[in-house]
Amino acid sequence: MKDLVWDEILSVGVDEIDEDHRKLVNLFNILNHAVVDEESPDYLAAILAELINCTAWHFSHEERLMLKHRYQGFEEHRAEHEELIQSARALQQGILRANQPMVDEHIEFLERWLTEHILTADLRLGSYLSQVM
Ligand SMILES: [Fe+2]
Repeated sequence: MKDLVWDEILSVGVDEIDEDHRKLVNLFNILNHAVVDEESPDYLAAILAELINCTAWHFSHEERLMLKHRYQGFEEHRAEHEELIQSARALQQGILRANQPMVDEHIEFLERWLTEHILTADLRLGSYLSQVM
């Protein structure tokens, strides 16, 4: 699977959010390479945990910005964050329970998981924040 390249398409127009997203894209690529290189299950699990933890932290960051700037779409956006974290944790648990290596299918799921939210909900948030910040 090809690396995810962070470029202007993924920019939401707010530097501090873009910075977080770059970090997440970077972690995703590290994970992708580790799967291709057939690294140990422990190592793969560690990167996946790092990606999920980093995403949870980033969601808190966005939620703080939404509250500070009184974003009308806060509840809906926060609900989407919760769903995303739950779905990633379900994937994580599934892999651990099955005791099977991560495969391309998991990586493809995580790519959609990461980019679809950025390209929809985060773009809407970014265009609001860039007007009021
Ligand atoms: Fe978001």
